[in-house]
Amino acid sequence: MSLSVIVGSRQKLSAVVGLAVRPCRLEGHFGRGLALTTGPGLVAWTRAVPSLVQAYSTAAVGSTSHHEDHSETKPFSALPGPPSVPVLGFFLHMWRKGLLGKEKIKKNHIMFDDFFHQYGPIFRLKIVNVDMVNIKDPVAVQELFRKEGKYPARIDIKPWRRYREISGKATGVFLSNGKEWQKNRSIMARPMLRPKHVSTYVSNLDTVSADMIERLRVLQARADGIEVPDLGEELFKWALESICSVLFNERMGYLQDNISQDAQDFIKGIHNVFLTTNSLMFPDADLHRFLRTKPWKQSMEAWDTVFRVGEKVMDRQLQEALEREESEEGEDDQPNFLAFVNSTGRLSKDEIYSNTIELMGAAIDTTSNTLLWTLYELSRRPELQDRLYQEVTRVIGQDKVMTWDHLKDLHLLKAIIKETLRMYPVAPNISRILEEDTVLMGYKLPAKTCVAAQVYSMGRDPQQFPDPDEFKPERWLRTGEQHDEINPYSSLPFGFGPRSCIGRRVAEVELQLLLSKMSQQFVLSQVEPEEISSVAQPLLMPETPLHLKFVDRK
Ligand code: HEM
Repeated sequence: MSLSVIVGSRQKLSAVVGLAVRPCRLEGHFGRGLALTTGPGLVAWTRAVPSLVQAYSTAAVGSTSHHEDHSETKPFSALPGPPSVPVLGFFLHMWRKGLLGKEKIKKNHIMFDDFFHQYGPIFRLKIVNVDMVNIKDPVAVQELFRKEGKYPARIDIKPWRRYREISGKATGVFLSNGKEWQKNRSIMARPMLRPKHVSTYVSNLDTVSADMIERLRVLQARADGIEVPDLGEELFKWALESICSVLFNERMGYLQDNISQDAQDFIKGIHNVFLTTNSLMFPDADLHRFLRTKPWKQSMEAWDTVFRVGEKVMDRQLQEALEREESEEGEDDQPNFLAFVNSTGRLSKDEIYSNTIELMGAAIDTTSNTLLWTLYELSRRPELQDRLYQEVTRVIGQDKVMTWDHLKDLHLLKAIIKETLRMYPVAPNISRILEEDTVLMGYKLPAKTCVAAQVYSMGRDPQQFPDPDEFKPERWLRTGEQHDEINPYSSLPFGFGPRSCIGRRVAEVELQLLLSKMSQQFVLSQVEPEEISSVAQPLLMPETPLHLKFVDRK
């Protein structure tokens, strides 16, 4: 594909480069980043936060099969939920039950699961000034998405939005809403979701994965020859290098030993944005801002760093794209996301920055944690690893380079990833703000209510998945006994509908490539067999580090 096709016109690119070289106006705060994950993870968390309340009751939970029969519709106030009192709301209940400790908050996905057992498949929590209704029934979830309207909206991630407001940055596809979101989404969707575009990223991503395999070997040899130290951090760098190769068509060098100060700052910045988010959601981000709390300052500094480094990289990319175009080489056959987005002429420089940074933020912890969980489950199943090895060898043969066509035939691998995301959805819940009054599971919910589909609880529901705590990829195979019985709304790790994860295809390709290569090269096992539990902060991640042995597959 030529650069001119991607870019559209030299004038447009020049225009942006012109913009790009203007002095950046602020070192402000905000950002976006974590997109997805964030979105959802936070939501989960938010639910854990109390406030005032009122209604709770032991009212029977509505059945899922007759949502449209409004004759017996119950009022919002009849929704079951944990008891709450005026002003303190659910807070008092949480405090009495010892649910307010840091350790408990980290496990809010388990707490919500407990609430479902206690109150049934729909319950209400009032969170500060937002009412949260939680559901896990796939029929109700389908209904929620059916009614999400033209501009679906998730719960707001206030600290991230505040950074943008304070710093004067634009909001990108993750944080924007309404028509602004639709514009961002329509531009980003093409290079992110269309198979024609995604297939052009495979070659770069394959090279990143090959380099990652080499890095694993080097790190292991340098350590004790058995374990790869700090595996989580290494996979984080792999995910960052991968998404940068997609967005900038350039290798950033994050898989090398001596990474630049900017790269180190960027990694730390993204980490800190996520680490502070839970704290800032409780009791309210504006209170943290007013009191200038430590997490508030850390979060603002983290966003400053992410934008400072991200904008620098993008300025350079745009300048280089212009120079390439003007050079004798003339055309560039490589895909270039940034140039493509610019070629639409519909986004300002600031909007391009924010959208790209949001994609980066949303791409890293999500993909790397999903990979960690997959490796954890594989390392406990040597027989499954053998079957995966056989599938990969049958499809790819001796080829070292994997292609888009290869990936289509890796059915067991895809089932393994799906099963991982069923058990460990990095975004443990997905929310929608109701556009209008809506009847859900027999209750009348007013417009603007926030409804959260508890994806974690859905995946662990024995009514949907027999033996829900067992890792059984076979259930996703066409030949699997349960395949036809799985409700498509019962596992939604990437969300659903027009607001669903825009990076889904890229994430899947990244995971498939690295897992295929790993299966060809190594047999994995835990250094010390141990169960690893999950924490939601706000993404669902392993509570303790994963210690893996990588043994060469002979
Ligand atoms: C395994 C990896 C990933 C998982 C499980 C995941 C999951 C999710 C989920 C659950 C949402 C919210 C969907 C909804 O509200 O319906 C989301 C949104 C989003 N994700 Fe991902 N994600 C992953 C990787 C990525 C990657 C690699 C990128 C970037 C290339 C990305 C970019 C985004 C963006 C920008 C949004 C917001 C979309 C919008 O609001 O229109 N994600 N993701």
